[in-house]
Amino acid sequence: MCGIVGYIGHRDAYPVVLKGLQRLEYRGYDSAGIVLYDDKDLKLSKTKGKVADLKAKLEQEISTNGNLGIGHTRWATHGQPNDVNSHPHYSNSGDLVIVHNGIIENYDALKKELKTRGYKFHSDTDTEVLVNLIEDVQVQEGVKLGKAVQIALNQTVGAYAIAVVDKKKPNEIVVARLGSPLAIGVGEDEYFVASDASPFIEFTNNAIYLEDGEMAVVRRGKGVKVRKIKDDALVDPYVQELQLNLEQIEKGGYEHFMLKEIYEQPNAIKDTYRGRMLANKGIVKMAGIDDNIDRIANAKRILIVACGTSWHAGLVAEYIFEDLARIPVEVEYASEFRYRNPIISENDVIIAISQSGETADTMAAIKLAKEKGAFAFGVCNVVGSSISRETDAGAYTHAGPEIGVASTKAFTTQITVLTLMALKLGKYKGTISNTTFMYHLQELNTIPDKVEMVLQNNEHIKAIADIYKNARNCLYLGRGFNFPVALEGALKLKEISYIHAEGYPAAEMKHGPIALIDEQMPVIVIATRKGHYEKVVSNIQEIKSRKGQIIAVVTEGDEEVRDLADHVIEVPESMESLSPLLTTIPLQLLSYHIAVMLGKNVDQPRNLAKSVTVE
Ligand code: M6R
Repeated sequence: MCGIVGYIGHRDAYPVVLKGLQRLEYRGYDSAGIVLYDDKDLKLSKTKGKVADLKAKLEQEISTNGNLGIGHTRWATHGQPNDVNSHPHYSNSGDLVIVHNGIIENYDALKKELKTRGYKFHSDTDTEVLVNLIEDVQVQEGVKLGKAVQIALNQTVGAYAIAVVDKKKPNEIVVARLGSPLAIGVGEDEYFVASDASPFIEFTNNAIYLEDGEMAVVRRGKGVKVRKIKDDALVDPYVQELQLNLEQIEKGGYEHFMLKEIYEQPNAIKDTYRGRMLANKGIVKMAGIDDNIDRIANAKRILIVACGTSWHAGLVAEYIFEDLARIPVEVEYASEFRYRNPIISENDVIIAISQSGETADTMAAIKLAKEKGAFAFGVCNVVGSSISRETDAGAYTHAGPEIGVASTKAFTTQITVLTLMALKLGKYKGTISNTTFMYHLQELNTIPDKVEMVLQNNEHIKAIADIYKNARNCLYLGRGFNFPVALEGALKLKEISYIHAEGYPAAEMKHGPIALIDEQMPVIVIATRKGHYEKVVSNIQEIKSRKGQIIAVVTEGDEEVRDLADHVIEVPESMESLSPLLTTIPLQLLSYHIAVMLGKNVDQPRNLAKSVTVE
């Protein structure tokens, strides 16, 4: 959480840093700030609120430019989101300024010690402690900024991506990372630093991704020097050529990123299997699996760890892996798994699913499983992300940047990749016949067109949203492969419209939740023809007889549920195991329209951030 950005070069730093903050705002948006160096002094401005509020403030406050600057957009951890706690933070002398993404866990002890040496603190943040610790090292040991940062960081416990500038050294920015991402954009005599590449992609597609435990001194005209924070060893930085383009990170005519990303799903799913699946030839190529096929196929157990929407994709994968590859699967919330002394052996394979590849709990779960000898496989979207680097092997989803905080295309592309994996393993193990394998591939190949057809129901779904937008509660029900879709539908509604919603396996209704049903309660039921259809129809009847309002997602041409339900949304016929790729789309659109109608900030819902890099 939190986004950091910096620039040093020949351009005006202000527009580069400000636009960079706008692009990183998905990472946190409760306050923002910027500091610029104007050849004489550092000029700092920060405020509670969004980057737009900062921009308005800056227009009045900052009359200067300069070609060095750093900025920050915050998701509060220590201290309320207010002006004082916003970043950047000055050191006591006013010479150093820092922006920080992460948490310094031992900040309290460090603060107490610094106080005994006369340091004063104005904010409640751990970050202000860190910048003063760096200053204290400079004073005590008489070392340069880079060295002082290194010594200070070696005294900290926690996670960070930081950028620090010193007004006495206006030709350099010092950056470091541990547990939070940091990329350095390498241009012609100019450098950018940022939490991801989006702030600099319009200027350069050459980037250095710092590894955990590395720091860099970025010097105007002199390049980038990378070293290990712990042992001071110099590192030869690998300059990577990025495939990202500007179009992918802009709204492209859509009102919100979420809507754009919902509509991108047909292509995103195609991009996920493009180059991996040759449906007519019966070929699935996935380097991460191919290179480790025995290890994965012979796993005694697959443990899936993830959070939020990625966890829901993991639940779908549980059904698919067990069905096709006959390997026992357990799906765990990464945040619980990491703290409960789980039993893990060398025969286990852990699959970590994460759009951002930065989720702190998922990362910790992988580390724990690896320590106990498990083989770790990552399913990530963001190329070069921490999880993709921590795992032994992996497969990217290739969904393209997902900027809306509510995950949409990440979910469907994760399911696509996991389906390919299960098919490959099933074929290798002989747990599915060649005919079944071929049939799945051909069916998967039809999914993008079918998603396109579901999207054509948008106006109908919008009309349903209008009817139910003032509901206080909603239930989502599904069975089998579509039970996780019910959970996902409920999560989407909760997070962007703030309406309370719960997902349940439809048959669990009678064990409690049915008591909630009355004429005020909309119940969204996934009732596709192949998935325990008759049972779900019975569940719908139970709800109807208690006067619940039914919105049913059904297979095209369905008559039976149409007669019972208040509204139906049709999806094309498909294999049941692939149906989540279709049934989830109307639920995304329903939540989207309700949130828009309620005037909520769809792309940046309150209290949330796109990547959760804190526990
Ligand atoms: O980047 P990750 O997939 O690891 O993120 C996991 C969750 O934080 C994420 O899915 C979150 O639940 C979304 N806001 C859901 O829409």
